[in-house]
Amino acid sequence: MMIHKFLLGMSMLLPEQASSYAADVDNLYLFLVGLTVFFTVLITAAIVYFFVKFRRRANDPIPAHIEGSVLLESIWSIIPFIISLFIFAWGAKIYLEQYTIPNDATDIYVVGKQWMWKFQHPEGQREINEVHIPIGKKVRFVMASEDVIHSFYVPAFRMKEDVVPGPNRYSTVWCEPTMTGTFHIFCAEYCGTSHSAMIGTVTVMSEKDYQVWLSGGAQQGTMAERGAALFSQYGCVTCHKSDATGQCPKLEGIYGTEVLLEGGQKAVADDSYIRESVLSPMAKIVLGYKPLMPSFQGQVSEEQLQQLVAYIKSIGPAETPAAAPKAGAAAPAAKAPPIMMSGSPEPAPVAPTTTATTPSPAASSQPVQKR
Ligand code: CUA
Repeated sequence: MMIHKFLLGMSMLLPEQASSYAADVDNLYLFLVGLTVFFTVLITAAIVYFFVKFRRRANDPIPAHIEGSVLLESIWSIIPFIISLFIFAWGAKIYLEQYTIPNDATDIYVVGKQWMWKFQHPEGQREINEVHIPIGKKVRFVMASEDVIHSFYVPAFRMKEDVVPGPNRYSTVWCEPTMTGTFHIFCAEYCGTSHSAMIGTVTVMSEKDYQVWLSGGAQQGTMAERGAALFSQYGCVTCHKSDATGQCPKLEGIYGTEVLLEGGQKAVADDSYIRESVLSPMAKIVLGYKPLMPSFQGQVSEEQLQQLVAYIKSIGPAETPAAAPKAGAAAPAAKAPPIMMSGSPEPAPVAPTTTATTPSPAASSQPVQKR
């Protein structure tokens, strides 16, 4: 009863539960606190009891000889063992829930740098130290750091993940907000002088408000469109030809597929793979191709990289209609921006104007396929 009241008090100290798994995290946490309180009280009571019961009553008494007790020792070994395994199983279940990214999640791209958070929406909106997301939709945060390790932490979502520098991976984390409102973002990894100022807010909006908010920006095009422009600006387009006649692998339809590498290994062409291929092209050479590509480390910013990834993704299998005409004829459909929000009105597919040097991104009237 006392523990119950204590836990109730504890839970009022916690931030709001604003994501689908927040309650699960809290329940485990409160269970651990309750368990700790229970054993602390039990052990303290035993200590006090034994103090009194076995206090010294005479000068120099000779104590009775006590052999060990197998039964007692078994009990105090096996019970904690079972409790530990129970905590492990419970924790593992929540861990898997939090770190298995659902397939139907919308991507938001995050860059951490000293000392701010930058966000990009696939639709093109960019934000600094604040991010808007819709309620009831799964959101995947794809995160990179421009300098040192940061940690993206939203206490109300019970969501925290390190954002690491280096060419080889994005870190990802997801949430499904269950409550509208504005919630804190913190950096939870000491990252220099203004670490404590590396804060921001997540605003969770109703689906309707979010659509209104989305339509308010993005004059500069979607992420995929900007990525397409960069793809041509950096000359990627001269080697990665859409009709596979280039010296480098064709990238249309590659996103999310398994790629065979020199040396017999395989890799999945996900966001991290694409990023690594741009920054350290020698790390994974595609089977049958020469290591010709220069590194773009230091030339492309993290935000640009994310736009390139969004572009490759937009020409990946998810957006290429199954009945798309063969390359060469009408090319791999329109380089239409992927529409991440299902239920949103379909915009007309826009072909990037900057890729006009190649015939491939010819705009066609292919409908944008919903993810
Ligand atoms: Cu970024 Cu602390």
